[in-house]
Amino acid sequence: MKLVVGNFKMNLLKDDILLYLDSLNDSKMTFSNVVFCPPHIYLSEFINRGYTVGSQDISMEEGGPYTGDVSARQLKSIGVTYAIIGHSERRKFYNDNKYVSKKIKMCCDNGLVPILCIGENQNDYNNAQTKNILMHEIDEALEGVLNINNLYIAYEPIWAIGSGIIPCIDEIDDIVKFIKEYVYNKYRFNIKVLYGGSVSLKNIDELLKINSTDGYLVGGESLNSIKFCQLISKINKI
Ligand code: PGA
Repeated sequence: MKLVVGNFKMNLLKDDILLYLDSLNDSKMTFSNVVFCPPHIYLSEFINRGYTVGSQDISMEEGGPYTGDVSARQLKSIGVTYAIIGHSERRKFYNDNKYVSKKIKMCCDNGLVPILCIGENQNDYNNAQTKNILMHEIDEALEGVLNINNLYIAYEPIWAIGSGIIPCIDEIDDIVKFIKEYVYNKYRFNIKVLYGGSVSLKNIDELLKINSTDGYLVGGESLNSIKFCQLISKINKI
């Protein structure tokens, strides 16, 4: 089954979350291959109802005087399973390029499954630099990481995030295979690769034609429970 990760980003208020959870319950669907990534403050609402959750980020530190941070260990202790690492928004606004490998190590040391986000910007894409950027981001993230046994990489072209535009399916297929091969040849382990960036009900039929992807990282379309459930049903039907 393909993994479906819903990244809520910094959206929805408490009442919205409760309505969202009611609607998941009413759908009578099973969500065994779905990971909900709401803001930290709502994680327990999902965990308490039996859903699998991921955090949108973690601290690069183990614990201690880091005001505002939440550690991998703390997240694990409340029942979090996955962690998104190096999302392009964190790279852009919080300089996360520098911290991805520390954060990946924190995940490994504390039993969280990292979902490492990588992707080129519009300029790199136009200049056919995509693969170079991806190799660089992978190497930067895996530097010194020794004990990884479960890693997802989300290929998210930055220009596709929130834009409604996606690469053509041949391009995605090629990149997904490239990422798997590159990691296997260089680091000798098999990873799973997700596609992210404007995944929606409008393009999911097209995206489902790509066999190489192991799932999807969904932003905007995961915020509406009805649409997200429809998306999950389509993905699970194939
Ligand atoms: P989007 O976001 O689906 O709204 O493009 C995806 C993401 O940023 O993870």
